[in-house]
Amino acid sequence: MIGLLSALAFFHYTFAACPSGFIEAGYTYHQRNNFCYKLIVNSGLSFNDSEALCQFDGAHLASIHDDEENIFLNSFAYGINAWIGLYNNNGTWTWTDGTALGFSKFICGTPSPSLNCTSMYNTHSNADCSGNTCDVYGQWTNNDCNNLGNVPAAICKKPHY
Ligand SMILES: *[C@@H]1O[C@H](CO)[C@@H](O)[C@H](O)[C@H]1NC(C)=O
Ligand SMILES: *[C@@H]1O[C@H](CO)[C@@H](O)[C@H](O)[C@H]1NC(C)=O
Ligand SMILES: *[C@@H]1O[C@H](CO)[C@@H](O)[C@H](O)[C@H]1NC(C)=O
Repeated sequence: MIGLLSALAFFHYTFAACPSGFIEAGYTYHQRNNFCYKLIVNSGLSFNDSEALCQFDGAHLASIHDDEENIFLNSFAYGINAWIGLYNNNGTWTWTDGTALGFSKFICGTPSPSLNCTSMYNTHSNADCSGNTCDVYGQWTNNDCNNLGNVPAAICKKPHY
């Protein structure tokens, strides 16, 4: 039991269920990786306030570790750009859930200096990437952590157990 508790502590997770039936307190179960996700739609929340709301559920802002998870979350949050858990921690991009950084979908030209929190584009629009037009959908950008009004939602993530 102590081993289990310390393993969970390592991942900075607290006990909180997303039980069978797959939906509890607004969380949706993603069977492939055994995590549960919730979309908080609340315009104007800062990155920190969004993370605090996730933690209230025993969750964190979502970390994203591969294309499959990224694509899943794009459709999960379709139509509304959302905070994910990646922030500039004194110069090191860090996930709030403590998981390792390995996968990135930062759109060309980002992360730019001094905008220290990350959101995911879940809407379609065009960006100019070195002279090539690309669709921002499914990519990430960095924003002012205080939220200047362009991040209307947030995605929380917690483990199913
Ligand atoms: C966000 O929270 C962290 C950790 O509590 C704190 O160090 C940081 O100053 C906060 N940032 C803002 C913009 O409030
Ligand atoms: C932030 O990073 C700088 C440069 O590496 C370091 O000198 C400073 O102590 C760090 N601050 C904190 C709060 O970790
Ligand atoms: C973003 O993070 C960098 C590195 O820690 C820091 O120098 C800068 O002041 C931060 N920007 C804001 C707006 O807080």
